[in-house]
Amino acid sequence: MFNHRIDEDTELRLHQDRHAEELFALVDRNRDYLREWLPWLDAAITVENEQAFIKASLEAFARGELLPLGIWHQGKMAGAIGLVSIDLVGRKGEIGYWISEDQQGHGLITRACAAVLTYGFDELNLNRIIIRAAVENTRSRAVPERLGFTLEGTERQSEWHYDHFKDVAAYSMLADEWRNREQA
Ligand SMILES: CC(C)(COP(=O)(O)OP(=O)(O)OC[C@H]1O[C@@H](n2cnc3c(N)ncnc32)[C@H](O)[C@@H]1OP(=O)(O)O)[C@@H](O)C(=O)NCCC(=O)NCCS
Repeated sequence: MFNHRIDEDTELRLHQDRHAEELFALVDRNRDYLREWLPWLDAAITVENEQAFIKASLEAFARGELLPLGIWHQGKMAGAIGLVSIDLVGRKGEIGYWISEDQQGHGLITRACAAVLTYGFDELNLNRIIIRAAVENTRSRAVPERLGFTLEGTERQSEWHYDHFKDVAAYSMLADEWRNREQA
């Protein structure tokens, strides 16, 4: 069981089967807002879709390939964050995230990312963690920039979103850089 407190009101919790209805309700309420930047909304149209997503995520977690977390704020699910594509041999992973529209602007994602970085580097012994965001997604790009990631470049036409490709900005953080930053 992974639970990590971010502040008095906010906690990261490993997704559980019983979270499917709340996850679906949150996604459904934020569908249009999320759809602008995330490519998977059309695969999340029923509670059963979310049940299947959580089941597959927990299986990938058990294999050490994924860390699928809900962001819980004042007892309610407010968003999600995860380490995806964990490669324990190559010692690298990628962070993905989203937060409900009404919870933007409070630093929840930046602080959740910081916690996931520390977990990835210290507990999973990763050496490199990336964050990728559409070039035009300035709010998302501000997260790795705020945390001191290095911009490595642009992946051209890297993601298919419904009816078009998006160029993606790729950022990285190395374990040594994060530890130096934590100590500063
Ligand atoms: C991208 C997304 C997660 C960014 O959310 P966000 O709320 O802007 O990010 P944070 O939670 O880190 O909040 C940062 C804001 O809180 C403020 N803040 C307040 N307290 C803070 C703290 N302790 N630490 C950091 N920032 C803090 C920051 O100044 C910033 O404010 P600003 O937007 O006015 O500059 C959100 O817009 C989203 O989910 N979008 C739709 C889906 C999406 O794009 N996902 C990412 C795909 S790559």
